[in-house]
Amino acid sequence: MSRDTDPTVALHSHRVSLLAQRFLKMSAFRCPPEVALRSAIRLASSFHPRPAFNRGQALLSRQTSAVGQLQMKDASGASSQGRRWYRAALCTELGKPLTVGTLPSVEKVGPGKVKIAVHSVGINFGDLLMLVGQYQEKPPLPFSPGSEGAGVVMEVGEGVKSVKKGDHVVALSSRAGAMAEELITNEGEVWPIPNSLSFNDAAAIPCSFGTAWLALTRKVNLQPGETLLVTAAAGGVGLAAVELATNALDAKVIGAAGGPEKCDLVRSKGAVECIDYTTENIRDRTKELTDGNGVNVALDAVGGDVWKQCLKSLAWEGRAVVIGFASGEIPKIPANHLLLKSLTTTGLYWGRYGLMDHPVFKKSVTDCFDLYTQGKIKPHVCQTFSLEKINEAFMYMKNRKSTGKIIVNVR
Ligand SMILES: NC(=O)c1ccc[n+]([C@@H]2O[C@H](COP(=O)([O-])OP(=O)(O)OC[C@H]3O[C@@H](n4cnc5c(N)ncnc54)[C@H](OP(=O)(O)O)[C@@H]3O)[C@@H](O)[C@H]2O)c1
Repeated sequence: MSRDTDPTVALHSHRVSLLAQRFLKMSAFRCPPEVALRSAIRLASSFHPRPAFNRGQALLSRQTSAVGQLQMKDASGASSQGRRWYRAALCTELGKPLTVGTLPSVEKVGPGKVKIAVHSVGINFGDLLMLVGQYQEKPPLPFSPGSEGAGVVMEVGEGVKSVKKGDHVVALSSRAGAMAEELITNEGEVWPIPNSLSFNDAAAIPCSFGTAWLALTRKVNLQPGETLLVTAAAGGVGLAAVELATNALDAKVIGAAGGPEKCDLVRSKGAVECIDYTTENIRDRTKELTDGNGVNVALDAVGGDVWKQCLKSLAWEGRAVVIGFASGEIPKIPANHLLLKSLTTTGLYWGRYGLMDHPVFKKSVTDCFDLYTQGKIKPHVCQTFSLEKINEAFMYMKNRKSTGKIIVNVR
């Protein structure tokens, strides 16, 4: 019996077609894609016995096959209504591998929105946390991860003035969704970039450099000639902090990283020295390197014992800023340490500035692109992966193999 005459296949095709119609109808009413997709999956679940579909793994396989079937209905890439499709990495269950599916393109973007043909996406540690449900923001399942991407503007909504179709841009998406061939985001989260700037370099700048820049300038006010200690200094934010402090703020940087190769890289980016914290004590080594005085400022992305070592490494009236807990351990601050050396500690949640103080957020990224143009920073891309290798890309970061940025080339 052929595929076309098999009644089981015919019934399934009918169900898949209903699924597609639900998705397309909701998209047409400018329903956010993830809401439309969720609704479509709920509809799909009504086609299958409940017990199997309620289980996460079942959801993963059904949803993936539904997306696959939708694409098979039209091998040309456009539906009978002329709809286009795009590929996206999808998280359908927390803590499980991502799948690469095909989603229908939104045809007309809403006012103030920009649709981008994404080429390169930067991976951040926060994406990794989001995929296991440990990040501050928890998008509803299923979702496509990724918060920063570079590509070409496909379409702009009513009222958009700063970019136009065909422009090369870098964009952020506070609600994730960048790990896809198409991204729709707010005009305020889009920056035009020169055509001479590669998409890979552009996608490596906003989050890592924006975070480091705001931490060093706004939160701890790093001054020329001061000494800065940077932990996880070979990571995305870490290397950005090393470059910004050295080349844009004229500070002296002492890096701290896990292993001799990582330390070599940190020194090559301008640090006067780098402490290998797999073999050396941060506090003891910092004191040695500063004639017993300690550092003026510390930027910590690791937490746990490393944060405690940072506090002990500070000089009189030192300042420390916490930006993350890559170790997974959130440390407590002993208040007596603050008192004894008149220390100041602070924290930074860079992405939140997008909501709370957008001009500051916007400027943090604009400043970094200006510094790139002036030749003061050059992002370090350690490895690129195709969209199909998305799970390998995340494992590379999880296993602490990455330095600087990992970039996913989605097309
Ligand atoms: N607050 C904000 O707005 C903001 C913005 C961006 C990032 N962050 C945070 O900043 C941190 C760094 O982010 P990133 O994107 O630069 O990540 P990244 O490139 O992956 O760097 C993280 C580094 O942390 C170190 N690390 C120490 N203990 C670790 C552990 N148990 N597991 C994994 N890594 C460990 C590793 O370097 P070594 O091997 O050298 O130790 C690793 O390379 C993360 O905690 C992230 O959530 C915060």
